[in-house]
Amino acid sequence: MKSYQRILSGVRPTGHIHLGNYLGAIRNWAQMSLETKEQLFCIVDQHALTTVVDSENLKENTRTIAAAYIACGIDPKKSAIFAQSHVSAHTELSWYLSCFAPLGWLNRMTQFKDKAGKNKENANLGLYAYPVLMAADILIYKATHVPVGEDQKQHVELARDLAGSFNSYYKKEIFPLPEPIISKETARIMSLRDGTKKMSKSDVSDYSRIHLLDDADTITLKIRKAKTDSDPIPSSKEGLQNRPEAENLMGIYSALSAENIDALCSEYSGQPFSSFKNALTEILIESLRPIREKMQHLLQHPDELDKVLYDGADIANLLAEKHIKEIREVLGMIPRR
Ligand code: TYM
Repeated sequence: MKSYQRILSGVRPTGHIHLGNYLGAIRNWAQMSLETKEQLFCIVDQHALTTVVDSENLKENTRTIAAAYIACGIDPKKSAIFAQSHVSAHTELSWYLSCFAPLGWLNRMTQFKDKAGKNKENANLGLYAYPVLMAADILIYKATHVPVGEDQKQHVELARDLAGSFNSYYKKEIFPLPEPIISKETARIMSLRDGTKKMSKSDVSDYSRIHLLDDADTITLKIRKAKTDSDPIPSSKEGLQNRPEAENLMGIYSALSAENIDALCSEYSGQPFSSFKNALTEILIESLRPIREKMQHLLQHPDELDKVLYDGADIANLLAEKHIKEIREVLGMIPRR
């Protein structure tokens, strides 16, 4: 069994948590937790401010992500589940790392280019500096492994580069070099409306994604409306090439059933996508039902969710405070009283 030393990951509490977040990230965290000594799962509420300033819903969105973590199998007794804003050392380290981050490295970040779009001059500084705060989220705990979807790989690599340059400047192994852990099959779950775009919380169309809180009727409708092409199901995986929507739907089924795509193709070979969609709808409903029900139950008890977050922050703060003291010392600051 593979063993990880300390894992850290997080989700932004913006919009609806969806199937891509589950298959690409949270499901793997729950699995890795069984093989890890220490794990920290953060709800990155400060990151949320870079794109949506939604103070009315931020508390509720944060609790919803905490509920999703638990409902997807993360045990709060074994893992620290906490809000980023409850551990001040993240933002403090972020500043120190900013002073090490060459603009050239930040200019390469593709997610900033995507999110800022053509309106780069009006994008906020937080959005630009986001990868440095993300590096601080990871490095403040000296995390060794970071399980994420493909879209976050570049950010984890930046954290790794910053850790390396900090260590070599101070000639001390302060940070381990964190490794991204990406599950190949579910690295990039695509939009149900456009198989060339990833499933995303920020897509304007709810039909582009399955939310973890969607009920059976909504899932049925979304899969019925999901885009496919007019060709039948091919007899093997190769036949899915250049058919992004078809490949995505079969990939989702395969991820939920653990049946490989070749086996699925031979089972449905020659059939229209409409018959496969019935099977996909069924497996989605059955797989997500326990998660939805558990989330709904947890969300009825916000005080208990807050208690999980407070307890998680206590654990996270212990570790973060120890590390930030060491970092301040290395930076040459007068120790605090
Ligand atoms: P966020 O909130 O966009 O997404 C949370 C996690 O879900 C993964 N993911 C996907 N995986 C597969 N297919 C998809 N369509 C899909 N959409 C999202 C993401 O890769 C991510 O793992 N910057 C991060 C949050 C963050 C973080 C961190 C992560 C902040 N600090 C420190 C790890 C470590 C983000 O915006 O994720």
